[in-house]
Amino acid sequence: MYMAEELIVKGETKQERYETLLPQIVSVLEDESDLIANMANVVAMLHETFCFWWTGFYRVVGDDLVLGPFQGPMACTRIRKGRGVCGTAWATETTQVVPDVDQFPGHIACSSASRSEIVVPVKKAGIVVAVLDIDSVALGTFDQSDRHYLERIVQLL
Ligand code: SME
Repeated sequence: MYMAEELIVKGETKQERYETLLPQIVSVLEDESDLIANMANVVAMLHETFCFWWTGFYRVVGDDLVLGPFQGPMACTRIRKGRGVCGTAWATETTQVVPDVDQFPGHIACSSASRSEIVVPVKKAGIVVAVLDIDSVALGTFDQSDRHYLERIVQLL
């Protein structure tokens, strides 16, 4: 399988960075069907492009979200449906954009450094099978453009 040896990170704005990143993700994922391997590379590519604090997946396993491939500090291993930002994204099946985690009732602080967060559900055949969780040490890092691009990226899995 051909694979670029190095991620190209380019662009002044985050939109430009996402546009540079998208075709590279497509190219890395198109020849591999293993979900965990693909999650691991998506996390690595997002984390390197944007230097987020924490970037990772939680997979749906029974009644819990269980920690999957991630980059960043160690994190909580299990989250119940409906709990925290991740469990809310699972229960509501919608992306959660949280500009200030202290204002989100029930936010689970895996790391006290995290100030804002976005969680995007990953669906297969209409069912949530995982969530992509990204944390930032700055307030208000994520907006509707992150939502747009990240929802496109998880559809590629
Ligand atoms: N803050 C998340 C928990 C996961 S960690 O941020 C990695 C939440 O409230 O669901």
